[in-house]
Amino acid sequence: MNAWGAGRKVYIDIKDTGEGINKKDLEQIFDPFFTTKEPGKGTGLGLFIVKQIVERNGGSIRVESEPGKGTTFSLEFQASQEKKDDTHEKPQDTINR
Ligand SMILES: Nc1ncnc2c1ncn2[C@@H]1O[C@H](COP(=O)(O)OP(=O)(O)OP(=O)(O)O)[C@@H](O)[C@H]1O
Ligand SMILES: [Mg+2]
Repeated sequence: MNAWGAGRKVYIDIKDTGEGINKKDLEQIFDPFFTTKEPGKGTGLGLFIVKQIVERNGGSIRVESEPGKGTTFSLEFQASQEKKDDTHEKPQDTINR
């Protein structure tokens, strides 16, 4: 995983060296209930939910993959304009946001 900021953007890359994802599956991985796992093993909701969370926070997610080599998910967010004093931040402020 790699995270960095540039200008008012925040970037997070999550990379693996797994089996990769073929082109046809790649188009569907963010769809609800799309899974390549055996019946009863995966819900196919993992990435769908990730995408929803990212987008509801004003971000975007994209994926690049090479079968046999691995996969990279790239997240991009807008940095907050707010200047916060973290030391005095109450947990409730976050919950009731
Ligand atoms: N890092 C990855 N490497 C290879 N394939 C992946 C990767 N992440 C997701 N996929 C593919 O995308 C599909 C959908 O992923 P998603 O997380 O939405 O559901 P799932 O993992 O199948 O089920 P669940 O999240 O409930 O365990 C997976 O079934 C798999 O085919
Ligand atoms: Mg999953």
